[in-house]
Amino acid sequence: MATLFSPLTIGDLKLSNRIVMAPMTRRRALHGKIPGELTALYYAQRASAALIISESTEVDPHSGIAIPTRPGLTNGAQEAGWRQVTDAVHGAGGTIFVQLSHMGRTAHPSQLLDGRQPVGPSALAGTGTIYTANGPEPYVTPRALETPEISTIVSEFAAASARAKSAGFDGIEIHGANGYLIDQFLRDGSNIRTDTYGGSVENRARFLLEIIDAIKLYWPVNRLGVRLSPTNPYQGMSDSDPIRHFAEIAGLLDPLGLAYLHMVEPPVQLEGYPVTAAAIRAAFKGPLIRAGGFKRADADNVLAAGKADLVALGEAFIANPDLPERWRLRAPLNAADKATFYTQGPKGYTDYPSLELVED
Ligand SMILES: Cc1cc2nc3c(=O)[nH]c(=O)nc-3n(C[C@H](O)[C@H](O)[C@H](O)COP(=O)(O)O)c2cc1C
Repeated sequence: MATLFSPLTIGDLKLSNRIVMAPMTRRRALHGKIPGELTALYYAQRASAALIISESTEVDPHSGIAIPTRPGLTNGAQEAGWRQVTDAVHGAGGTIFVQLSHMGRTAHPSQLLDGRQPVGPSALAGTGTIYTANGPEPYVTPRALETPEISTIVSEFAAASARAKSAGFDGIEIHGANGYLIDQFLRDGSNIRTDTYGGSVENRARFLLEIIDAIKLYWPVNRLGVRLSPTNPYQGMSDSDPIRHFAEIAGLLDPLGLAYLHMVEPPVQLEGYPVTAAAIRAAFKGPLIRAGGFKRADADNVLAAGKADLVALGEAFIANPDLPERWRLRAPLNAADKATFYTQGPKGYTDYPSLELVED
């Protein structure tokens, strides 16, 4: 029976426990969307995670620098910035995958080069607001991608994955969750295309599967993970039948030999939201990471019951750089300060104390 502290081997990757650091945007990249020294320190402090998954990192070369806070991986300077991070994490004994993402319809013209219109599978806007230089602005209606343009974006994912290799990452997580471009293709509330990328589940998953195929030119597939969030309504996302559709998507991913499938879904059923975890677990036989508001007891339970192989923690890792050690000792946890999730500088980023510091 797996516990939080059982080691796990995925391909040739040896993980020392089951506690993954979830991907988290912290908006602290330097001008040019380049991760700096502080980011290297932040991740190195958290190297005792079984696996660190980096913050969402942009593959779109048209993503401008108007708000220099989310990092990218589209040029040499960004690659060099990430190299500092991977060196620091490896120096501290950790393992780190980069989460590669394209914002699609959730981008804002003011954040794209030449103020261009964001793109999506269909001309349907997300709901909510995006933080811009002028404060929060509503999402704009995207331009539906022409069929031949889709292969260009597939190549952008592949190019970023090649840079990730040069930057020293241990693997790639493809961000197919939380309302970004791949998720916009996967769910039928945002994808009403009538070409080979819309309609059936197989068609809606085609973009994701083509990205996996393209990245395989640079990475062994067992260093490639995929994150999905079948029911997360964030950014106006919806699907007419998430249990059936996402089980089918998981079934398409199952034979590929991925490092893992990472799903975001709360451990307890929220009113009005179907639970997809069991159907996905049945359809996907490889390593499964669960995330989404897990507490220690939830994590113990899903691992013991074989409902997941790893659990990913977000906020708890922001506030507790040594989370695995604290859980092992059943020590108290620091509380996360939401006010500093997305601010600049070390406050709320690299200044959370680890246990030794508390004891001194
Ligand atoms: C500050 C913050 C930033 C996040 N950024 C990302 C992101 O870049 N990519 C992603 O897939 N999820 C992101 N998430 C979601 C987390 O990965 C995780 O699924 C979520 O926080 C639920 O887990 P938790 O309750 O353990 O924090 C973010 C969450 C937080 C709190």
